[in-house]
Amino acid sequence: MIITIDGPAGSGKSTMAKRLAKRLGFGFLNTGAMYRAVTLYFLRRRVDISNQDMVNSLLPDIHLEFSGERLFLNGEDVSEEIRLPEVERFVSAVSALPEVRQRMVELQREIARKGNYVLEGRDTGTVVFPDAFCKFYLDASVEERARRRQKELAEKGFSYEFTELVQEIERRDYLDKNREIAPLIKPEDAVVVDTSSLTPDEVEEKLYHEVKKKMEQR
Ligand code: DC
Repeated sequence: MIITIDGPAGSGKSTMAKRLAKRLGFGFLNTGAMYRAVTLYFLRRRVDISNQDMVNSLLPDIHLEFSGERLFLNGEDVSEEIRLPEVERFVSAVSALPEVRQRMVELQREIARKGNYVLEGRDTGTVVFPDAFCKFYLDASVEERARRRQKELAEKGFSYEFTELVQEIERRDYLDKNREIAPLIKPEDAVVVDTSSLTPDEVEEKLYHEVKKKMEQR
């Protein structure tokens, strides 16, 4: 059984996917982390990503593996490093590359077909699993998402201007929604939840009850 949660950065997808997976006893797959790890690989090697041959020749060398919530890139735990601002700046460009998307989607299907999974990302309900059992689309205002990001960064000891974070989120939204392949869109059959004025517990209850309702209707 597959549940998908798509939506823009900071809409609460990761938190909710984790909570829902735990509550249902499902696996959890953070697809954004995979695009971030590929981005980190290219950044470290200073790869010119406009060079398609170069990108294609390197892709088979990238091995990604999850162990719980930790993500390993060729055997190295990169779970922290993929959250760095350099990766964040570059990830939209890398995730717009068709060859990269094709590889990631294959890998995501391979992982999630092994059991019951909650997947979260931008295209999990539209491209990766268009026949998913239950689909969600989470959204929130740009300001609220920037506030959440500021708090998250502050907890890690980083101080960022609010307006700078708003701009960064708007830039990433634009790129994710306007790319040619698998842009961020609401799946037609998704349950849409605006999380701007809801607490994490309230969102979790909404999603959980929606899944339960669907399970009972089967
Ligand atoms: O969810 P996130 O912020 O960690 O995702 C990082 C980037 O990866 C996001 O800006 C777009 C890309 N992404 C994607 O293209 N498709 C997905 N299914 C998940 C993420």
